[in-house]
Amino acid sequence: KELIGEAQAFTTDNKETLDAFRIKFISKKGLVNEIFAEFKNVPNDQKKDFGQVINTLKNTVEEKIKSIQEALEAKEESNGFFGDLTRPGTPISLGSRHPISLVKNQVIEIFSNIGFNVSEGPEIEDDWHNFEALNFPAHHPARDMQDTFFVQMNPDQLLRTHTSSVQTRYMENNKPPIRTISPGRVFRNEAISSRSHCIFHQVEGLYIDKDVSFADLKQTLMYFTKEMFGKSKIRLRPSYFPFTEPSAELDVYWGLKTETDYRITKGTGWLEIMGCGMVDPNVLKAVNIDSNEYSGFAFGMGIERMAMLLYQLGDIRMYFENDVRFLEQFKSNF
Ligand code: PHE
Repeated sequence: KELIGEAQAFTTDNKETLDAFRIKFISKKGLVNEIFAEFKNVPNDQKKDFGQVINTLKNTVEEKIKSIQEALEAKEESNGFFGDLTRPGTPISLGSRHPISLVKNQVIEIFSNIGFNVSEGPEIEDDWHNFEALNFPAHHPARDMQDTFFVQMNPDQLLRTHTSSVQTRYMENNKPPIRTISPGRVFRNEAISSRSHCIFHQVEGLYIDKDVSFADLKQTLMYFTKEMFGKSKIRLRPSYFPFTEPSAELDVYWGLKTETDYRITKGTGWLEIMGCGMVDPNVLKAVNIDSNEYSGFAFGMGIERMAMLLYQLGDIRMYFENDVRFLEQFKSNF
């Protein structure tokens, strides 16, 4: 019982002293074993008490050692001592940017270099900014080009189908000259497949000033395709959008070298990259810009699509699944 008191009172901040304490009490030749050897000589009626005392002694010593050991380790760590400093460390794994962000940042960079700023707007839009001001009259079949998600059956609360809605807002709030690109997430009620998704990202561009011509549009897009894809052979095919007149589809000549090139260009070598055109005077009128004084061009492209071309990816759904094994492949400095 005296020894129990001694063990309880024991304290040290020194490893060697702690080890000596352990050896003294619970090593093979320690006191606990030594006392236990006496067990057979103890009269039967005292055996129970005797056994309890030995047990308490043993437990007290063990607990004491454990708690002092923990205290010593904690102290070592807080002193910055981690044992062998030449041991390899635990690696800290770095995150990587999402491929959509990488491509988006690249597009922003290319247009920033020729004086475009970046504008943003809400993802939940009203009919005016997404359609009406962009020369989609109510009930006009052109609205079917962009299958729309409505919020709670309210025809005036919808998920924007393109970031042209940001351009409407920008023109309402800024006077020409305007040079802006609007990157962002857009939504369309489309079946999800390897080629299309109901959520995707766009970058749309808008340029408004005096005497802006179709030649300016073409030159700007040629500069872009050269910077983005390293290719400057382009062609503009006639197309239709309510907010541009004339409208065109931009194709870039990808060339036919590899199996993949044949597949993604469907064997023609030409690849469709974006829609574009001269801003329709009706759009300018809707935002109170005088179309006799000003003209402009606009363009819009899908980021997923460009990323699929650049990274040779076959399935658009990969971008939204957040599979770390996929995302980890895009470590870069952008
Ligand atoms: N807003 C069009 C779309 O989402 C793209 C576009 C933008 C076309 C600007 C022409 C001019 O499909």
